[in-house]
Amino acid sequence: MIEEQLEQSKSTQTKPIYYATTPIFYVNAEPHIGHAYTTTLVDVAARFHRLRGDDTYFLTGTDEHGEKIQKAADAAGLTPQAYTDQVSGKFRATWDSLDISYDEFIRTTEERHQEVVNDVLQRVYDNGDIIFGEYGGLYCVGCERYYTEKELVDGRCPQHDIVLEYRSEENYFFRMEKYRPWLRELLEDNPELIRPERYRNEVLGILREPIGDLSISRPRARVPWGIPLPWDENHVTYVWFDALINYYSALKSHGTEGHYWPHVEHFIAKDILKPHGVFWPTMLKSAGLPLYQHLNVHGYWLVDGGKMSKSKGNVVRPLDLKDKYGNDAFRYYLLRDMSFGLDASFSEVGLAERINSDLANDLGNLLNRTLGMLGKYRQGRVPEAGDLEPIDAALRDAFVTLPDRLTVMVDNLQFDRAIESVLEAVRKANKYIAETQPWALAKDEANAKRLDTVLYTCLEALRCASILLSPIIPNKAEELRAQLGLGGAFTLDDAKAWGLTPAGTATKLGAPLFPRVDLAALNESLEVKEAVIEHKPEVTIDDFARLEFRVAEILKAEAHPKADKLLVLTVKLGGEERTIVSGIKKWYDPSALAGKKVIIVANLKPVKLRGIESQGMILAAEDAEGNLSISALDRDIASGSEVR
Ligand code: MSP
Repeated sequence: MIEEQLEQSKSTQTKPIYYATTPIFYVNAEPHIGHAYTTTLVDVAARFHRLRGDDTYFLTGTDEHGEKIQKAADAAGLTPQAYTDQVSGKFRATWDSLDISYDEFIRTTEERHQEVVNDVLQRVYDNGDIIFGEYGGLYCVGCERYYTEKELVDGRCPQHDIVLEYRSEENYFFRMEKYRPWLRELLEDNPELIRPERYRNEVLGILREPIGDLSISRPRARVPWGIPLPWDENHVTYVWFDALINYYSALKSHGTEGHYWPHVEHFIAKDILKPHGVFWPTMLKSAGLPLYQHLNVHGYWLVDGGKMSKSKGNVVRPLDLKDKYGNDAFRYYLLRDMSFGLDASFSEVGLAERINSDLANDLGNLLNRTLGMLGKYRQGRVPEAGDLEPIDAALRDAFVTLPDRLTVMVDNLQFDRAIESVLEAVRKANKYIAETQPWALAKDEANAKRLDTVLYTCLEALRCASILLSPIIPNKAEELRAQLGLGGAFTLDDAKAWGLTPAGTATKLGAPLFPRVDLAALNESLEVKEAVIEHKPEVTIDDFARLEFRVAEILKAEAHPKADKLLVLTVKLGGEERTIVSGIKKWYDPSALAGKKVIIVANLKPVKLRGIESQGMILAAEDAEGNLSISALDRDIASGSEVR
C-alpha cells in the first residue's frame, strides 16, 4: 500500500492544494498544552506541505459566542465583546510566540463570519430543513450541547464529569435525522473519511440509532450573545452551528472557497467528535456544500494520569515550557511523544529526557563532532568528496529515501514515526563516524581524499536532517543550517539530492543546538513543586464571600504556657479585642510583634488550642520548607478594616 501511495505521489503533476484547520478554541479558558498540541500539529503538517511545494492554507481562530462565553464574561465583570477581545488576543499572541505559521486567524464575532453564517442558515432553511418545535433534554453548558442518556457516564457529562441540567425550550431544529442514512452510507463507503478508524467506528455507532433533529437556536432573551437567525431575530444561532461554519466562512470572506474548500482537512481531538462527525457533515449536505477530505482525530494529553483541570491545579501552560526548554524542543516533544489517535501522558521529565537523548545526544553530537573534525582537519571548510564507498552510499541512501517515506507517513498522520525515522538516520550517521574513524584517517596524508569523503558525507547527512526536521524545529533547523554555512530557501526535494553542499563552504561551529537538561536538578525541583502545590478545589465567588478577612492590630504577644510552638496574641479588631493562638513562635520574637498589623480570618468558629480559645486565624505565607511569614500591610490602615 505504501508503494502504491509512493507511485501516486510521484505521478501527481499539478501543484497539490492543502487546507488544514484547527478547532476554533473557546475563549473561556487560556491556551494550555492541549490547544497547543493541535495547533502545533497542524503547523507541522502545514510546514511540511509548504516544504513539498504544495499550495497550503492554515486556519485557526477562536469560538466566541454562546452561553458559556457569556457566563465567563459576566464572571470576569466585562462585556462579552471586551472579554472575548482579551482572551482571543491571548490565543493569537500565544500562537505567535510558539511560531505557529497560521495564514489566518478567524473570530466568530467578526462580521465577515456572521454574514456567511446567515447565508448558510438561509440555505438550510430554504431547503426545508428547519422546523420549529419544543425540545427537552439534558444540557451541558461546558460542551454547549444536549446529551442523550446513553452518552452519559454514570449519569454525568463524559467531558466535564458533572450532573446535567434538564432543559426544555422552544427552538428551531435542523432536520439532522433525515440525513442519517446518507451519512452512514458515506462512512461505510469511505473508510478513511474519519480517521483513525476507532473514531470512524465511534461515529458509525452513533449513526446506528436515531440521532434526532438538532436544536440550532437559543431564545435571544436568555442567550443574547450570538448571531440572530436571519428569519427570526428573537432567536440566536446555536453556538456549534455558528462555530463549525468558520472553516468555510474564513475562505468565503475573501473568495477563496472555490480554491481551498474541496481540500479541507480538519484536525480535532476526540472530545468534539460528534459535532464534527455528525452535525457538520449533515449541515454541509443540507447547505449543498462539499464535505471535508478527512476528519483527523487525535487523543488527549493527560496529566497526572487524568484530564487537566483548573480545579486540580495541573493545567500545563505551553509558554512556561517554551521559556524553560525553548520552543523547538517543546514542539519536538509534543509531536514525537504522542501517537496520533491515542492518548499520551505529559511528563516534564519525559520532555527533558527526549531533549537529552534525541536532540542533544543524537542530533547535537552529530553536528558538533562533524564541525569539530572539519575545523581540526580542514580549517572549517567543506572539502570536495571523492568516490563513494558502499558505507558512504548506505548512509546517503538512508537519507535520500526519507522524503518520500516521510510524505507517506505525514499523509497517514504518523508524525511520531516520521520523526523517529529521521532520528534513525541521524543515529546511523553517528555510527558511520564510529565506523569510518575520521581521526584515524587524519593521521595519514595518504588517506586525505578518503577523509574528505567521510567528512562530506557527514555534512550532507546534517544538511538533509536540517530540511527534514525543519517543520518540527524550524528555528533550530535554521541555526543548524547557519552552522553548516548554508542559507536561503530549500525544498523537500533538496533532501532527495546528495551533494548539494558546495565544496569550499565555510562552516561556523556555534553554541550547542540543544543544551542538555540537568535531570537530577529537574527531578529535585519537581519534587519541591509537588510538595508546595496541594490540589485544592476551585471555589466560586460565593464560596469566597463566606469568609471574612479583617485587619487586626497585635496589642501583645506571649508564649503559650503549655505549648512550645504557639504564641497567644491579643489583637484589636476595630473596637473589639480578641485572643488568637498562632503557630508562628519559631519565626517571631513575641516582643517585636506588638503594633504590627496583620490580616486575619475573622469568622472562623473558635477552637481551643491547648486550653486557650483562639478566636480567629492569622494569615501567613508558608514556603516549601515550612517557614512562615505573617502578612504585612505596606500602608497604615485601621484595624477592623475588611480585606477582600
Ligand atoms: N470551540 C469548540 C470547537 C469548535 S470548532 C468548530 C471547542 N473548543 S475547546 O477550546 O474546548 O477546544 C477543544 C480542542 O482543544 C480539542 O478538540 C483539541 O483540539 C484541544 N484540546 C483540548 N484539550 C486537549 C487535551 N488535553 N489534549 C489534546 N488536545 C486537547 O471545543
